[in-house]
Amino acid sequence: MASLPQAPPRFLAILTCFTLLASFASAELHVREFVIEARPVKRLCRTHQTITVNGQFPGPTLEVRNGDSLAITVINKARYNISIHWHGIRQLRNPWADGPEYITQCPIQPGQSYTYRIMIEGQEGTFWWHAHSRWLRATVYGALIIYPRLGSPYPFPMPKRDIPILLGEWWDRNPMDVLRLAQFTGAAPNVSDAYTINGQPGDLYRCSRQETVRFPVFPGETIQLRLINAAMNQELFFAIANHPLTVVEVDSAYTKPFTTSVVMIAPGQTMNVLLTADQRPGRYYIAARAYNSANAPFDNTTTTAILEYVNTPRRTAPTFPRLPGFNDTATATAFTNRLRSMRREGLPLEIDENLFFTVGLGLINCTNPNSPRCQGPNGTRFAASMNNVSFVLPRRNSLMQAYYQGTPGVFTVDFPPVPPVKFDYTGNVSRGLWQPRRGTKVYKLRYKARVQIVLQDTSIVTPENHPMHLHGYQFYVVGSGFGNFDPKRDPANFNLVDPPERNTIGTPPGGWVAIRFIADNPGIWFMHCHIDSHLGWGLAMAFLVKNGKGELQTVQPPPLDLPRC
Ligand code: C2O
Repeated sequence: MASLPQAPPRFLAILTCFTLLASFASAELHVREFVIEARPVKRLCRTHQTITVNGQFPGPTLEVRNGDSLAITVINKARYNISIHWHGIRQLRNPWADGPEYITQCPIQPGQSYTYRIMIEGQEGTFWWHAHSRWLRATVYGALIIYPRLGSPYPFPMPKRDIPILLGEWWDRNPMDVLRLAQFTGAAPNVSDAYTINGQPGDLYRCSRQETVRFPVFPGETIQLRLINAAMNQELFFAIANHPLTVVEVDSAYTKPFTTSVVMIAPGQTMNVLLTADQRPGRYYIAARAYNSANAPFDNTTTTAILEYVNTPRRTAPTFPRLPGFNDTATATAFTNRLRSMRREGLPLEIDENLFFTVGLGLINCTNPNSPRCQGPNGTRFAASMNNVSFVLPRRNSLMQAYYQGTPGVFTVDFPPVPPVKFDYTGNVSRGLWQPRRGTKVYKLRYKARVQIVLQDTSIVTPENHPMHLHGYQFYVVGSGFGNFDPKRDPANFNLVDPPERNTIGTPPGGWVAIRFIADNPGIWFMHCHIDSHLGWGLAMAFLVKNGKGELQTVQPPPLDLPRC
């Protein structure tokens, strides 16, 4: 029998060495400066002093490759404390570069600077960066795109053109003043005045038509859109008139492709979609507006941009897409339930830590309900909690610095694994259970623990979709449903074959979602609702993941320029 000709092993060895060298040689260090400063930005007929990065709004797009490193020096020339988070980047053994203020670092004070040293290890896709300091992320955000290593393929034919689309939320005043007012009164913060696409509200708002973003396309071409929901407080429906979208990636994890006329994207989430310009040459609206699951006021405006076939006269009126109704939970849920991942590497099949966290709003009773500080429902102040703990940020130090230096009194390690009181979470909850307790509690995980968390929405104040984001990790979404989670029945229906991999997932309103991950990244990692009004009310907790054995399983020492409180 004839055997195939084989290359001599020596030659093969040299070849592998060469390819390895080539891929190392291609790893780059990207050195950048982010200057944070107030600049005049004109929107909705008025000029606002806006906190920007390098004078840009939205901020600069970072483009790197898997295997690269970044050194980004943030120079704070604004009048607010600030810190920057690199949303979705795992920051392996390096929580010092993660960014949430008072969690992994003290904020960068006005006049100070700090260099984020970030290694990209085994990650690619669409990411983003944003301020993680009170409400500064309203205007301080941008795209972070990680291309695969040179020569490493995409799991789908990658279009030549690739366009980031940042969905944002705009207030016709300083967002920090909106926050300050809400913190004083205890009422819900004022809703925004506009949504934006790449910083522009679009045709349906006052004084905005001139600046509407236009994306030219050639007839027949396919393009990739990298959607990022950078809005502060709102899930969004997004569609393009007459153009179906093929979803290929969510939260930097490839998905089994599927085609849809509309997507729902929550704050914090990213989503890559392909679109083919195969319609009659013309102008088509790209539009986004609220998916609002809560029984509460919201911004019901619609932001637009225009998909414009080249050589179409500007005068042609664009076609408008069909968007679901604001409260169309059925469409939002059906869309999210279609997501399937391409892999399940690191999906734990056995569980060491079986956690059950309630998430939801609450109300703090006031001794004087007529006080100007108690303008929430019936003379209360709004709050939010996980397992009845309303998270309070420390002020004297960050959790991570306190942990590393062994400073006592900054946090406690008694975050409860289950709610302190069992009740009918999605039923008619008695008023006695509406008031959470304040605390700065973390939950300890041993290194490499296999973790499952069921996140259970409550109907306290209102059921609502809460986009829950975990820092330092990607997780698998193994199940979800409406009503109360049933530990006997529901696990039988978990998807352990191709569950979507994400870093931000919404609890269905009045429902639950189950996620799994392996705690292989030591450090303190924030988990919170990515709706900033809820985060400010305390809808957060943090995991303390212990070191394993040896240097490669241990948190790196902090950088010398790490800000102090
Ligand atoms: Cu995108 Cu803790 O945030």
